[in-house]
Amino acid sequence: MKRTHTCGELTIKNINQKVILQGWVKKVRKLGAMNFIDLRDRYGVTQLVIDESKNLENIKSEYVLEVEGMVIERKSKNLEIKTGEIEIKVEKLTVINKSELTPFEIKDNIESQEDTRLTYRYLDLRREVMQKNLLTRSKMNQTIRNYFLKNNFIEIETPIFGKSTPEGARDFLVPSRLNEGKFYALPQSPQLYKQLFMISGLDRYFQIVKCFRDEDLRIDRQPEFTQLDMEMSFANDQDVMKSIEQLIKKIIFDIKGIKIKKPIRKITWKESMDKYGNDKPDLRFGFEIETLNYLFKDTEIPLFSNIENKSIRAICINSMLTKKDLEELTEVAKQNSVNILAFAKYDLNDWTGSIGSKLSDFEKKELIKLFKIKNESTILFVVDEYFRASQAMGAVRNKVAKILNLLDQDIMELAWIIDFPLFEFSEEENRFVAAHHPFTMPADKSLEDFDTNKENALAKAYDIVLNGFEIGGGSQRITDPKIQQRMFDAIGLKKEEIDTNFGWFLNAYKYGAPYHAGCALGLDRICMLLTSSENIREVIAFPKNSSGIDNMTNAPDKVSTLQLDQLHIKLK
Ligand code: AMO
Repeated sequence: MKRTHTCGELTIKNINQKVILQGWVKKVRKLGAMNFIDLRDRYGVTQLVIDESKNLENIKSEYVLEVEGMVIERKSKNLEIKTGEIEIKVEKLTVINKSELTPFEIKDNIESQEDTRLTYRYLDLRREVMQKNLLTRSKMNQTIRNYFLKNNFIEIETPIFGKSTPEGARDFLVPSRLNEGKFYALPQSPQLYKQLFMISGLDRYFQIVKCFRDEDLRIDRQPEFTQLDMEMSFANDQDVMKSIEQLIKKIIFDIKGIKIKKPIRKITWKESMDKYGNDKPDLRFGFEIETLNYLFKDTEIPLFSNIENKSIRAICINSMLTKKDLEELTEVAKQNSVNILAFAKYDLNDWTGSIGSKLSDFEKKELIKLFKIKNESTILFVVDEYFRASQAMGAVRNKVAKILNLLDQDIMELAWIIDFPLFEFSEEENRFVAAHHPFTMPADKSLEDFDTNKENALAKAYDIVLNGFEIGGGSQRITDPKIQQRMFDAIGLKKEEIDTNFGWFLNAYKYGAPYHAGCALGLDRICMLLTSSENIREVIAFPKNSSGIDNMTNAPDKVSTLQLDQLHIKLK
């Protein structure tokens, strides 16, 4: 290589050295008799100084240059950057390539529309913040590989063209030219393959792998995303949680420098729904949800009277929320199907707010006691069916934290959510379906009656949550064919359906399976949180936009009739 150094490494120690640098023009400046160019590459920026005899009129931002020159000490130093004490006195300057005017400036904090950034993603990725995000991903993958290899896991790849199976999200399908009318499915995860590895005796598997799910997109969801997938033999749920716990703490330490010493808290699904209104609680702040039916059983307040099977659920915020805050929070409650967000404000003397003045002395006293009120506070209430009220309050709770600026990105609050329901009722299909997937082992206490007591059956499944996002999940697997059969019966899968969809898989369990458990982490989500990014797209080199489109290539796109014919496909 011709370059002797990168643009991010020269310091006062290099004074008087002759160097060759190559990079992009960040900025051209003229100051008196001197011309300055900031030259940028992935490693940093170096100031070039060029005397006025050289004409820089034709050098523009984003041109690629090669310069030869001497490292000299700068007069006005910039101690914020590594190269800030030196500059290069340029002796020879060559333009390697020119650049047109870029559609947005290559710098952090740009105003440009996201679709423009995605159309010119290769330029967007020139920005320091984006390069840092990708470097973080690379570092995270390195930590993961080191960790698993050190612990005797082997990295094995699994197929991308697989079989479409029911029970899960919607599949992306790939038509087969060689097999008319048949389709492969892209894997939603390597779940079944990794279970087969355990039967093959491979003992400990991991893979950093692309997964595909045809779901509606959100800030933390992409149609293709990356998992760290793992499975362990002769291991149970506790063993896997222990291993993943060590790994995630290591990732956080390697990337954020934060050492988490305490064991990760375990919260049952039921407790999480009750206190936080969802199964991915943000534990960076309190405001736990309380049920207040007992407190209002003799109330005069119409909203809380004659509520039959409904629950009064409330949180207490230790500050006075403004009218605008309350309007925003009501909107959040409405988006969660609850129309009224009642509130009471207490300034340590008077009670105000939509129900504040209507509270009885008993109710006021009990509220102060329950919420241990010591400062000015606002209590928010909703009344509805228990789960709906809880979910709405959970969303309100998260929004309050956002409004009050409580979401400190340098605090990492992890939790395991355990004791998930084994089944959930699908209104669409009018039957119970597996809440995780149908190979998840029922909890010990549900083993006896999970197929007859589906509402209350619990699973040996676990999710790991970081700052209000589900960053991973896994389970102990069913390895006993009798339990597996009971599971299929419980979700109403008929023999033919089982045979065509899972026969090949279940067969394997007839040939000596060790007990095993596993987990998968969502690496894009973890990276989003570790880089304090606003959404998952910021940490993916070439993501799809919020409508699932790749703005740069315009995929998905139409294909020719010839291609469709070869695939035996006719569009409707
Ligand atoms: P699960 O479905 O919980 O488990 O997925 C594991 C983790 O993957 C991430 N994730 C996503 N990230 C971005 N975009 C998406 N569309 C998306 N969907 C999921 C989440 C999630 O926690 N095979 C099981 C694991 C096991 O049982 O071992 C599985 O895939 O962070």
